[in-house]
Amino acid sequence: MTLASIATVSPARRLQGTLHVPGDKSISHRYGIFAAIAEGVSTIAGYAPGADCRSTLACLGALGVEVREGPAGTLTVVGRGLGGLRSASEALDAGNSGTTIRLMAGVLAGHPFSTTIAGDSSLSRRPMRRVIDPLEAMGARIEAAGDRPPLTIHGTRLHAIAFEPKTPSAQVKSAVLLAGLHAEGTTKVVEPAATRDHTERALAAFGAPAEIDGLQTSVQGGRRLEGQTLMVPGDFSSAAFWLVGAAMLPGSRIEIVDVGLNPTRIALLDVLRRFGARVDVVIASTGAGEPRGRVTVEHDRTAAIAIGPDEVPGLIDELPALAALAASGGEISVRGASELRVKESDRIATLVAGLRALGLDADEREDGFTARGPSSGPARPTSGVADARGDHRMAMAFAIAALAADRPCRIEGADAVAISYPDFFETLEGLRERGGSSAA
Ligand code: S3P
Repeated sequence: MTLASIATVSPARRLQGTLHVPGDKSISHRYGIFAAIAEGVSTIAGYAPGADCRSTLACLGALGVEVREGPAGTLTVVGRGLGGLRSASEALDAGNSGTTIRLMAGVLAGHPFSTTIAGDSSLSRRPMRRVIDPLEAMGARIEAAGDRPPLTIHGTRLHAIAFEPKTPSAQVKSAVLLAGLHAEGTTKVVEPAATRDHTERALAAFGAPAEIDGLQTSVQGGRRLEGQTLMVPGDFSSAAFWLVGAAMLPGSRIEIVDVGLNPTRIALLDVLRRFGARVDVVIASTGAGEPRGRVTVEHDRTAAIAIGPDEVPGLIDELPALAALAASGGEISVRGASELRVKESDRIATLVAGLRALGLDADEREDGFTARGPSSGPARPTSGVADARGDHRMAMAFAIAALAADRPCRIEGADAVAISYPDFFETLEGLRERGGSSAA
């Protein structure tokens, strides 16, 4: 399906339904990469359908990895073994995907050839010093104009390091651990705060467990990975948009089945409980160390929400969705989230501009934002045109806020949903009950 760059979202009275969401993006990247450097064949069911995870597959293909696609997102990946990637004949394209470029930089740092990885205009603005420093400390050399992509990675025999990133980042942790697999000795990462741990869980699933002690994770260089049969759970960060919509609109009830429930990813549920929603979670199974199951959110009450720095790493991709709660007439304030400024767009600036365009009150701070229903006029967005600035999570956040408006709203750059949730707008039509005066 071709996505339109401008979407018109009509108000909804409520959201209701039971659904699956697309495969988890973070887990899909990791399973693809680990399968490529493992020995033997891996089968991955439920691989994420969005453009980001396709970028990872394209990079792996260009490095000599055989990837066969079966029905319904099932992939067969023929592993090349640790250190077995082939030099690419041209520059790799990571598209819009920070996870692709940073994790692949870690892998390529340990291969004895040079590779250039570029990205789209958004990725070309994102900071790479955070991976360049540790990978160079391990022995690689990396060229990057102004610390931004494209990166040219001159790989080599690496040596282990102990690394303490300044900013909590699962991408940085994962890049260093992946490089550590290719290094001599034991590589250690000590995080300033816990971040998503899919890399650690995948390492164990592929037969090369990391040693974990609180915020410290260590991998042994040279540990061989073995091909696996894996199933990717639904992406909690995609589910987040429907869960927020259900918490916001009276009479709503949304049930997401077979969604990833990794404890490092579900902090949103606590926030929705504080907001006043009824939240129910059932873990149905755990595969490859990743719990999965069912989440139900029902609207009940609404309250003002304040999110501080401690909560941010566990919510980093859900903050855009949460901002939409302001459309219920309440207030949400977020502090300690300056990392939002270096995502697919400057998410603080994009959110504040977009929410204001929809008729909400929103203020920007260096490290966060406050958003609330309008101080005058109806306590709901008043329609308008919000620009997602090419950022998938912004497009979806504005669409959820627009459900509470009193007239249709327009979202520019709506086609960015293809990055993580290509069917987002179609799914929305299936879940909504129409509301407002001129819902077409
Ligand atoms: C991701 C880590 C987070 C997150 C991103 C996916 C990952 O980024 O925002 O969407 O898969 O490791 P940072 O590592 O920059 O925090």
